[in-house]
Amino acid sequence: MIPLIIANWKANPVTLSDARKLASDVEVSLGGIRGCEVVIAPPYPFLVDVGKVLARAALGAQDVFWDAGPCTGEVSADSLKSMGVRYTLIGHSERRIYAGETDEMVNRKVNAALSRKITPVLCIGERDRVDGEISQVVGNQLEAAMRGVPRGSAAKVVIAYEPVWAISTMPNAKPDTPDNAFRVMIYIRRLLSDLYGRKLAEKIRVIYGGSVKEANARAFLREGKMGGLLVGGASLSAQSFASVIREAVRR
Ligand code: PGA
Repeated sequence: MIPLIIANWKANPVTLSDARKLASDVEVSLGGIRGCEVVIAPPYPFLVDVGKVLARAALGAQDVFWDAGPCTGEVSADSLKSMGVRYTLIGHSERRIYAGETDEMVNRKVNAALSRKITPVLCIGERDRVDGEISQVVGNQLEAAMRGVPRGSAAKVVIAYEPVWAISTMPNAKPDTPDNAFRVMIYIRRLLSDLYGRKLAEKIRVIYGGSVKEANARAFLREGKMGGLLVGGASLSAQSFASVIREAVRR
């Protein structure tokens, strides 16, 4: 499977014109790069305009709500679909922390996205690292989020392992090691295989996020055997994002 590289712009840039400019710069810099799938996830209000600019890259959202109707301030999967959204992050740690998202909410969102044929990118990861241990949090978040996801849809979910302490904006952040990401990926696959059987579990993409940059992108894919990358800070300049992607596809 070719790597999936997702740009999570978070609440950046702050103006529509800058968002349009970044999207078109990204498109230009992707010209000629083959061998990976690219997704750009801008802030909600810029989805439509960024979507118009994207050609090589697919449009992603940073969140989704499980219902339409009386849910003030939320955006439904149907609305996202109608804007051309093909992927959505779900359960990003910043939403769990700042918006109080629970495992149960994350689970409803995963099922809502799947029912509208939007690919859920389920973000899981522990807040603190205990040396040499794989946190139980990762397993608990995974199992809770996959509740009710039938066998027929499970392979469509993308799991993003993103240790919270490794996110570039956290105090003392540093990227995980490809080696450790690999061990966690194996653990995630083992849990998925308990839920869905080995064959199906192997089809589920597990990607890594947390201080990904040009210098470490390749190692997470090659040594860490991750199926892709979730990129925050380094996706905010077309140049640095393209460097990450070039590293990811380099033979
Ligand atoms: P970072 O963010 O690449 O800036 O660490 C990743 C994320 O939070 O998705």
